[in-house]
Amino acid sequence: MSLEGADRPALVVVGTGHHAPTPDALEVLDDVAIVVDHDGTITGVHPRTSDDARTAIERAAEVVRLAPGQRVLPGLVDLHVHAPQWPQLGTGLDLPLERWLFEYTFPLEARYADVAFAESVYSHLVPTLVSHGTTTSVYYSSVHERATELLAEQCLLAGQRAFVGRVAMDHPEGTPDWYRDATATDGVDASARSIEAVRRLAASEGSTLVQPIVTPRFIPACTDDLLRGLGELAVATGVRVQTHCSESDWEHGYVLDRCGVSDTEALAGFGLVRPHAVLAHGDHLGDDDLDTIASIGAGVAHCPLSNAYFANAVFPVRRALARGVHVGLGTDIAGGAHPGLLSQCAMAVTASRMLDDGVDAREDAASRGVAGSRIDTVTAFHLATAGGGDALGLPVGRFEVGQQFDAIVVDVDAARDGLRRWDGIDDEPRLFEKIVRLASAADIVTVWVAGRRVR
Ligand code: GUN
Ligand code: FE
Repeated sequence: MSLEGADRPALVVVGTGHHAPTPDALEVLDDVAIVVDHDGTITGVHPRTSDDARTAIERAAEVVRLAPGQRVLPGLVDLHVHAPQWPQLGTGLDLPLERWLFEYTFPLEARYADVAFAESVYSHLVPTLVSHGTTTSVYYSSVHERATELLAEQCLLAGQRAFVGRVAMDHPEGTPDWYRDATATDGVDASARSIEAVRRLAASEGSTLVQPIVTPRFIPACTDDLLRGLGELAVATGVRVQTHCSESDWEHGYVLDRCGVSDTEALAGFGLVRPHAVLAHGDHLGDDDLDTIASIGAGVAHCPLSNAYFANAVFPVRRALARGVHVGLGTDIAGGAHPGLLSQCAMAVTASRMLDDGVDAREDAASRGVAGSRIDTVTAFHLATAGGGDALGLPVGRFEVGQQFDAIVVDVDAARDGLRRWDGIDDEPRLFEKIVRLASAADIVTVWVAGRRVR
């Protein structure tokens, strides 16, 4: 390759885009050229008619010009997906969490000892999430090492950015004897092997997109020895951590009873609240917990739909953001019954409104809800993109120089189901709101991860 070739842009995307670099700012990038280099990094965002844009367009290996009704937005970062629960998506949400796990979920997850079954599910799951615009997923696998590797393989095949975690769980009461690590040592050893396997696999493909993540299921499913061992494993390997934290009344109360401190303090004591750790749900976090999470630089995966079924409360997004906590969104497949994050954005707005107003009309309006809790679509979309990227410590979610170009194109003019531009009515902020609330997977016509087209 000539020197000239080396600094030619790999890709220039020309058109109009939207992003939400901060929780309360929608930025419209009106008629711009987004310039991307060969490792997927954004090197410029220029007005289309500028000299910089013209030069980049002339020299680029590929130029994509959006149609008038197409908009480019950052790709979606799903902070919380249970990959093996994919076959029960949309079903089985009639039981409380502690029964749902034993009666529906553990029996399904146990089936991933069967490698062919795992492959059939994961080869369907990962491309489906990509088609919904999910450019980064943070996955829980099952306890099975081979199935976990298969999930990582499918992410590499689909070109999705992903964290893939083998689930560790060994508690004799919190798990069934047919689906658990036999001992704490077994759980730590299997997790260590799984980290190595995922790293080896990604390296063999020359990919940095797929990484392992240490994944204790949650305190009720893990003995103290396992939790301590996994905290040490995270330090030794430098791998991120994910787990569930203060999700429901039952789970939050169980940890207080067993550990004598809050879920957050207990996890921190085991070394599991670390920079860029992802704590799922967090609906019952107190202000002290939020302060601990913020000071360590961990984050919360807010899963608004799942929370309506299992959490007994609405996660206080505004309070968490005000205390400096990184917050992103999660589907919590299959505790949440929808595959994409745009629907979670709408749900996050809806849930925040119910928290703000309160829900029991017999209560006095002035004291019915928690005033100051509401968020809008801009904040929700920020959580689903830049918020998730910040939580993970990844340079994704914003169209800015130095960020990776993970992006989607929504074709408004081709949309079939309610999403439409009305001349003289819809300005760009209104169109953004419509996209977030109304776009479906069928309306997402292009997906890039690290500058590479994956759909
Ligand atoms: N807590 C422990 N495991 C799970 C799970 O699979 N889903 C949810 N929502 N909460 C959990
Ligand atoms: Fe979960």
